[in-house]
Amino acid sequence: MTTPTTHDHWIDPYEKAWMVISVVVLIGIMIAVTVAGFAFGIQAPSPYQRVDPNTVTQSGPFSKPGLTDLGGGQYEVYMIGTASGWIWEPKEIRVPVGSRVTFYLTSKDVQHGFMLWNTNLNMMVLPGQVSKGSVTFEKPGEYPYVCHEYCGIGHQTMSGKVIVE
Ligand code: CUA
Repeated sequence: MTTPTTHDHWIDPYEKAWMVISVVVLIGIMIAVTVAGFAFGIQAPSPYQRVDPNTVTQSGPFSKPGLTDLGGGQYEVYMIGTASGWIWEPKEIRVPVGSRVTFYLTSKDVQHGFMLWNTNLNMMVLPGQVSKGSVTFEKPGEYPYVCHEYCGIGHQTMSGKVIVE
């Protein structure tokens, strides 16, 4: 007959310390995520708008893809990705240095990806959805954009460029 001793509940002090640290880190992350989501409004990306990929090019802004000057250094671009020919429409955009350009992108057919080099703009381009993102071009030069989501045999040719002058 043995009597229970305190040794039955003995935890190594290092193990105990790491257990405490693990719980503290978890609580810290939960607080950070909650504050980021509700106080700062940082949310997972969601589509700016839903569209019908079959009719999106027939009317509305995507029927005339391209650049529009909104005045005051503000521009907007409506752009379509298509796997029939693997092209971005428009293929080239010219804006003066210092411009702020808002991109609205959608796809006519399959999933594409849009990455604008030397900027932090990187979006998925999905049929049925509009992705929106803005960039201010502080330096003159060429900013190529490429498709980074495999969309068929000509995927690697799907590119264009912003020329900032
Ligand atoms: Cu479009 Cu890859």
